[in-house]
Amino acid sequence: MKTILSNIKTLGLLLLASLVLSACQPQIQESSKEYDLEAFVKSNEEDFAKTAQRILGPLKQNLMGTLMKELEHSAERAVSACQLEAPGIADRARGENPVVEIGDQLFQVELGRTSHKVRNPDNRPVDWMKDYIATFSELESGAFDPQSDTVIAVAASDKVGYLEPIALGPMCMTCHGDEIDGDLHQLISQKYPEDEATGFSPGDFRGFFWVTFELAK
Ligand code: HEC
Repeated sequence: MKTILSNIKTLGLLLLASLVLSACQPQIQESSKEYDLEAFVKSNEEDFAKTAQRILGPLKQNLMGTLMKELEHSAERAVSACQLEAPGIADRARGENPVVEIGDQLFQVELGRTSHKVRNPDNRPVDWMKDYIATFSELESGAFDPQSDTVIAVAASDKVGYLEPIALGPMCMTCHGDEIDGDLHQLISQKYPEDEATGFSPGDFRGFFWVTFELAK
């Protein structure tokens, strides 16, 4: 009788222990997954940066090509082309790289541009970018290097982010500087009533190209 009782007690303890353990299980798994991603990012940082730069290459080239080609006609045409084509150029660049492999993991890619002062409200920064935007926007003109001052960050428990700073050149002033020509200014405010992207000087930080890598499920 005694042994049966103590057996029942032991069984009860075992059951209790397994309940406690299984209640903890999801938490343990989640935090170890987050930890894993951070460790994974650390050991694959260069691969993330190189892949992001490769994906951004055509986006940058196409944006610049469109801008230069249309500016030859007029700044007004360039504004219309930017408005119509900038989002499409980003979509195409993503379409060419829907999934990439880094380390032994597959990631889904998104990309675009963002800024502390946006012209197109669709380009507003999302949470994980905001601290970096704040830091870079306080830098003196020319105090960063777009090639080397790039950022790799854990953007969410299943997402890695890459940021590459954008510096303004003299040719950007036509549409983002202090004095924008009257007609052009009118056209820009008509297409972008909430425009914040003026008043910049050459060498200023304008924003980031961004790429995110989401763990493919
Ligand atoms: C002909 C006018 C024009 C010129 C010149 C121009 N931009 Fe823009 N820029 C625009 C327009 C229009 C948009 C909004 C595009 C959109 O709708 O996505 C824009 C958007 C941007 C954005 C995205 C963030 C935001 O504000 O929405 C960045 C970054 C940017 N421009 C940087 C530059 C840089 C750097 C240069 C010089 C190399 C430059 N631009 C030259 C018209 C111009």
